[in-house]
Amino acid sequence: MADFKLPKNSTVTEGKTFKLDGDVKNKKSFRVYRWNPDGEENPRLDTYEIDMDNCGPMVLDALLYIKNKIDPTLTFRRSCREGICGSCAMNIDGTNTLACTKAIEDCHSKDDIKITPLPHLPVVKDLVPDLNHMYAQYASIEPWMKTDSPAPTKERLQSPEDANRLNGAEGHGPAMCILCYCCTTSCPSYWWNGDRYLGPSTLLQASRWVHDTRDEATGERLDALEDPFKLYRCHTIMNCTSACPKGLNPAKEIAEVKKRIAERQH
Ligand code: SF4
Ligand code: SF4
Ligand code: FES
Repeated sequence: MADFKLPKNSTVTEGKTFKLDGDVKNKKSFRVYRWNPDGEENPRLDTYEIDMDNCGPMVLDALLYIKNKIDPTLTFRRSCREGICGSCAMNIDGTNTLACTKAIEDCHSKDDIKITPLPHLPVVKDLVPDLNHMYAQYASIEPWMKTDSPAPTKERLQSPEDANRLNGAEGHGPAMCILCYCCTTSCPSYWWNGDRYLGPSTLLQASRWVHDTRDEATGERLDALEDPFKLYRCHTIMNCTSACPKGLNPAKEIAEVKKRIAERQH
């Protein structure tokens, strides 16, 4: 029988523990993935105790507490702190989500809350994943409006119904995607075929342009997507839709692109 072994440096080890001094009544521990590309050491999970009476309610508050008060070497991305920029996406308590909108009290683990980078991606440092490949895939679908007709003197108008197809009547349409990649990194098909399969985030964006009634390159877009790997690696497992912290439905958008391709064949 084949004997598979992981390389030695892929094993995550137990790291340091940063205990709180004194008698702190309301404390919680966070186990955080650490890895430094400049060192020789394996990745590790460091444990940080936090005084919850002096920390905000969200997981991002806990990370900022650690960085500002305990360990300034901890590296993570964040910007808007209100679920708009997508930069604080990570795996928290076993789920891909946004650190700024995930309440600490909503974590299933009441103590020892584990925080790791988005899975199945190369790590740049600590909680920062390398998104270059995904950004290149996003660029490949040409996410901008393409038109051949002469530009109008004012903006290109769209009916409220057509706009709703993109924005969603309740704000959950594909145009609301914040490119956080929680969905793509939870997709088993993307884990195995991410070199060629575009993944749910990029396909949801592709659907957004296919369904934009102002765009005049729909046929060309569908031609580019009609590919056994780029599109048809989606097997409707639905992890993507469960993972989206914005309540979007990438699996449905992918199904609608497949339907548009099937319809034009008749
Ligand atoms: S529905 Fe498709 S894109 Fe979503 S997780 Fe499943 S295989 Fe991936
Ligand atoms: S569809 Fe949702 S999970 Fe996926 S990138 Fe967009 S906002 Fe993030
Ligand atoms: S910091 Fe912008 S989405 Fe979390």
